Amino acid sequence: MTDKEVLLDVKNMVKHFPILAGVFQRQVGVVHAVDGITFDVRKGETFGLVGESGCGKSTAGRTILQLYRPTSGNVIFDGIDLTKTKGEDLRLLRRRMQMIFQDPYASLNPRMTVAQILAEPLVVHNAAKGKEINERIEELLDIVRLSRGFAVRYPHEFSGGQRQRIGVARALALEPEFIVCDEPISALDVSIQAQVINLLEDLQERYNLAYLFIAHDLSVVRHISQRVAVMYLGLLVEMAARDELYSHPLHPYTQALLSAVPIPDPLKEEKRQRILLEGDVPSPVNPPSGCHFRTRCPLAEKICAEKDPEWREVAPSHWVACHLV
Ligand SMILES: Nc1ncnc2c1ncn2[C@@H]1O[C@H](COP(=O)(O)OP(=O)(O)OP(=O)(O)O)[C@@H](O)[C@H]1O
Ligand code: SF4
Ligand SMILES: [Mg+2]
Repeated sequence: MTDKEVLLDVKNMVKHFPILAGVFQRQVGVVHAVDGITFDVRKGETFGLVGESGCGKSTAGRTILQLYRPTSGNVIFDGIDLTKTKGEDLRLLRRRMQMIFQDPYASLNPRMTVAQILAEPLVVHNAAKGKEINERIEELLDIVRLSRGFAVRYPHEFSGGQRQRIGVARALALEPEFIVCDEPISALDVSIQAQVINLLEDLQERYNLAYLFIAHDLSVVRHISQRVAVMYLGLLVEMAARDELYSHPLHPYTQALLSAVPIPDPLKEEKRQRILLEGDVPSPVNPPSGCHFRTRCPLAEKICAEKDPEWREVAPSHWVACHLV
């Protein structure tokens, strides 16, 4: 793929949260939520970001959108470094980037009607006024396949799947080019999940949207992503085109995650060997020296504790951080 197609370029992005304690709120430590990640997202693509709970996925999504300012690194959107942008310039760029959340109930104000929820971004960004607002609300409800009559109702009157459609409609209000989908289906019934995925795929095709699709397991992103990255304790450990990653996982952590995914082919499923990881994910307050995965890695050697593994392109567009690959 050519450079021209890159929409978002994340370079060595770090987000640390200070830990404050005592009456004087002195800083006593740092949460290494995101510890330096590098990847790009291309126009119209779905980029899957996968990792266990607490590894920094949501923080990464929020920091890209500048809802959190990064501790260091760069986030370049359509050629503009967001980390150096503020005020009105940042506000205008924010229209082009949106977020869909895991819990569609918590992310919708219960005291606002659907019409008010959808009108809010239009009004805040001065994107429509008067009659146009109502027209746009009806259009958005059509786009996400909800009845126009729903405009006067409140979030609690809807099912989980319908609420997520309202969340999607709100994200689309300002015609963005890029949406961070933060585990948008994990709170939904399995029967509804496919509907929301299909809707997101249709919208992508219709509006050439790029998605950063966050999930905690590899099976969820398999069907929808063109490329996938695996995250562990604040760092990316592997990134590749979807088929390459699922057929040739190189990092021991990716291999362990994949070994937990059932294979639809019964013959292959019978031979599947599960790699069980011992222990828990260490605290991001005190990540292990060297490779963050070394405390649980079945292959760890002395060098793994001494040196950070480099983020390297080991085959065309296949990136890995491991001393032994
Ligand atoms: N605002 C914050 N202040 C301090 N620490 C935070 C903040 N937000 C997240 N963290 C910490 O940063 C780490 C990464 O959290 P994050 O929510 O990004 O993980 P996640 O991968 O999205 O997890 P999950 O799958 O549970 O959603 C966690 O240890 C979390 O406790
Ligand atoms: S660098 Fe060492 S500890 Fe880390 S994944 Fe590779 S072998 Fe395992
Ligand atoms: Mg999260």
